[in-house]
Amino acid sequence: MVSQALPFRRYLATNAVVLAPSFVALAALHWHGDLALRPALVAAGGIAVVTILVVQRYLGALGRFARFVSELSGEEEPVMPRLKFAPATEELAGAAATLAAGWRRQRASIDNLAASAQAIVDGLPDPLIAVDRQRRIVRSNRAALALLGPIVAFRDLSTALRFPALLTVIDSLLAVSDGNFSGPDHVAIDLILPGPPELDVIAHVQRLPRAAADGSLALIVLHDTTALRRAERMRADFVANASHELKTPIAGLLGFIETLRGPARDDAAARERFLGIMAEQADRMRRLVDDLLMLSRIEQHEHARPDAAVDLGRVLAGVQDLLQFKASSRKVVVELAIAPTLPPAVGDYDELTIVFQNLIDNAIKYAKPATTVRVMAQAVAEDRVSVAVADEGDGIPAAHLPRLTERFYRVDNARSRQLGGTGLGLAIVKHVVNRHRGRLDIQSTPGKGSVFTVTLPAAAQPQK
Ligand SMILES: Nc1ncnc2c1ncn2[C@@H]1O[C@H](COP(=O)(O)OP(=O)(O)OP(=O)(O)O)[C@@H](O)[C@H]1O
Ligand SMILES: [Mg+2]
Repeated sequence: MVSQALPFRRYLATNAVVLAPSFVALAALHWHGDLALRPALVAAGGIAVVTILVVQRYLGALGRFARFVSELSGEEEPVMPRLKFAPATEELAGAAATLAAGWRRQRASIDNLAASAQAIVDGLPDPLIAVDRQRRIVRSNRAALALLGPIVAFRDLSTALRFPALLTVIDSLLAVSDGNFSGPDHVAIDLILPGPPELDVIAHVQRLPRAAADGSLALIVLHDTTALRRAERMRADFVANASHELKTPIAGLLGFIETLRGPARDDAAARERFLGIMAEQADRMRRLVDDLLMLSRIEQHEHARPDAAVDLGRVLAGVQDLLQFKASSRKVVVELAIAPTLPPAVGDYDELTIVFQNLIDNAIKYAKPATTVRVMAQAVAEDRVSVAVADEGDGIPAAHLPRLTERFYRVDNARSRQLGGTGLGLAIVKHVVNRHRGRLDIQSTPGKGSVFTVTLPAAAQPQK
């Protein structure tokens, strides 16, 4: 049977056209008396049967060819049909298949390019959003999703970033017609993204010369500057604090110099007393400058990790000797409990001495008189050692604990100053411990005392 894809009328018409010349020739022969009616009819019948068969096969092959070509544009490559009754169509089908394979390769490489473009955009650490001429979001990257939550494609940009100043800037950039760009094509504006946590960001808006293939016409990149701003604020606070700390003793010294030049010029007893106080103030300034220099030196090397094996027992005994006089002046006993199997710590001998000198000095300073400061050193886990310094002092209210290691932070300003503190001790401790890849933990119970625990990496023990 003829394929259903072929209309029956076309089948009939084709047969009629192909048979017409033979029938006309047979009729003419009969008309001139060259051929009797019977043989003419037999010949016509035979020709008709053969022709109908050939036409049916040929049209069937053409139908399969047409279907094959139409299927070539689909996703799957169709199976090449057998077209032996129409050899020319077989060649045509081969050529069409080659053409379609070329298209398919091109389409795959376009899909690949689109996927790589998205992968590159996703790889950017800063959030990025692209908008089209109507300010609709056409593309966003992973960082944008992480920062702003779900972003719905083809919605207005204001659904993701509701900042009138930013939207106005983008509108004015999008309003310029392509190639007509005389003003700046890039604008940066500061934004504060409401938290938590609240973030300072700079939004860089870049207008493209013409729309990209996906319709993108302007790119918005958000650059997080929170850490930078915080560092700027800290630096400003630090300079203000350091100047303030120095101002007090300088003002004191100037006052005493004035007095010694004037009213107390001839008062030997007062002179003696004032010179004593002046020496104390000068010593305070020296300590402050020494501590500041030490902090800056440690900060400079904070990323380089010290790697010597340090015997903590020796460090702690040295510090105990150094602070013996101060401890006994307050009737405080410093007790060392060093585990006999304590492995050496990985670090720097002098810097670790500074750490425990600061912690034990604080413990003695803030302990109640005639109490004991306990220093316990032991191995924790396989590759860590810890040193805990526990005092029986007034303790520190919990609210102060997180800020205790900030520079110049004191729980009780007047008391710390009166005890000769600069407020930099724990900041130095924290930096040294960080440089050693260690940890500082502070536990305190108001009214009972505090425990400062330093955990450090332990050096591998030699095999016995
Ligand atoms: N063991 C402790 N007990 C109670 N309070 C403490 C203790 N150690 C530290 N503090 C509190 O923490 C603050 C900061 O300590 P830090 O060592 O940095 O400064 P400081 O001792 O005042 O001065 P510095 O150590 O520079 O001479 C102190 O002023 C004190 O209020
Ligand atoms: Mg201190």
